Amino acid sequence: MSGPLLQLLRRKIEAEGPIRLDEWWQTCLYHPGHGYYATRVPLGADFITSPEISQVFGELIGLSLVQAWLDQGSPAPATLAEIGPGKGTLMADAWRALGVAPGAREALAPLALVEVSASMRSFQTNRLRGLPVRWYDTLEHAPAAGPLFLVANELLDALPIRQLVHLSGLWFERKVGISGSGHLGLMLDPRPSALGPALPACPDGSIHEISPAREIMARSIAERLVAAGGAALLIDYGDVYQGATGDTVQAVRGHKKIHDPFDLPGEVDLTSRVDFGPVVAAFRAAGCEVAGPVPQGEYLRALGIEPRTEALARNLDEAAAADLWSRSQRLVDPARMGRLFKVLGVAAPGRPLPPGFPAPDTSVPEGAAP
Ligand SMILES: C[S@@+](CC[C@H](N)C(=O)[O-])C[C@H]1O[C@@H](n2cnc3c(N)ncnc32)[C@H](O)[C@@H]1O
Repeated sequence: MSGPLLQLLRRKIEAEGPIRLDEWWQTCLYHPGHGYYATRVPLGADFITSPEISQVFGELIGLSLVQAWLDQGSPAPATLAEIGPGKGTLMADAWRALGVAPGAREALAPLALVEVSASMRSFQTNRLRGLPVRWYDTLEHAPAAGPLFLVANELLDALPIRQLVHLSGLWFERKVGISGSGHLGLMLDPRPSALGPALPACPDGSIHEISPAREIMARSIAERLVAAGGAALLIDYGDVYQGATGDTVQAVRGHKKIHDPFDLPGEVDLTSRVDFGPVVAAFRAAGCEVAGPVPQGEYLRALGIEPRTEALARNLDEAAAADLWSRSQRLVDPARMGRLFKVLGVAAPGRPLPPGFPAPDTSVPEGAAP
């Protein structure tokens, strides 16, 4: 076990002392030469995502965004964008669905794909051949061509996090250092963290995760919505946590959990459950409209996953139809992806939200003046 990233991290820690978890994470996933996303196409090999499970997922996302485009007055030009497009499957399915609204494809092209990984980009180039697509390193690099209609599925869970532990009324940050046995691993910074006063009240021994990178991502999407209009859908596994999040880091390789990923930088996928609370707060602080997060199963049902599956199944033989139904079921079943995954809807200030979310409760409370 002496990969280039392990040597690089070990040398840095030997020279500077333990490093923050988000710095270790950033290097593992995003190092330009040897990071996990720089060196492979992990979808299918290490994990599978909703668009890869069924075409219905991307179609319904496409329909939701095109409805948001119609509800915001069918602006032209506008931009359909995806951050972290993976194998390009969601965008291919969404593009097909856009065909239902005359003028939508013309108005929303070229499609803006924000992708950090060169290997993913080359996969997407093949998958989306023939579609009007442009790639960008960050959303800021994409030209502002009218209102933005954006989706990001399983992006936030990959962004780096920090972890803190609550002990005797104080918070201490977990860092990555070198243990007595010479292995990389987590250790506690002996100095209390200055972040303590901003963290939730919780029992001794609690672990809490924060992700400044997610909040930066939310602010950059919000900035574009505020400046130009539009809407966004962010889908990920997680919740709005009331207290501490706990330790939710998940390292995966070949569909199997890896219990100690610290000596395997760049070799395993890293994710953590998204705490949507700070993400929602970032959008609200920018003045955006927010709906959810709601469970993925409820959202897909509200958008009509069942009638869509039924319509597709009619043209299939019995075995293929059963397979299609079981894939839709996997996306909505609360015991599988239907409850763990959540969908957050966002719109520019004062603009309508995409469909699929419960209507805001506008009932007048009893006793309140009409
Ligand atoms: C878990 S995959 C999800 C792929 C796809 N959205 C799907 O649902 O199948 C994460 C994707 O986000 C990309 N990615 C990760 N961090 C990113 C970032 N900071 N900016 C843009 N893309 C990123 C990865 O290269 C990969 O394409």
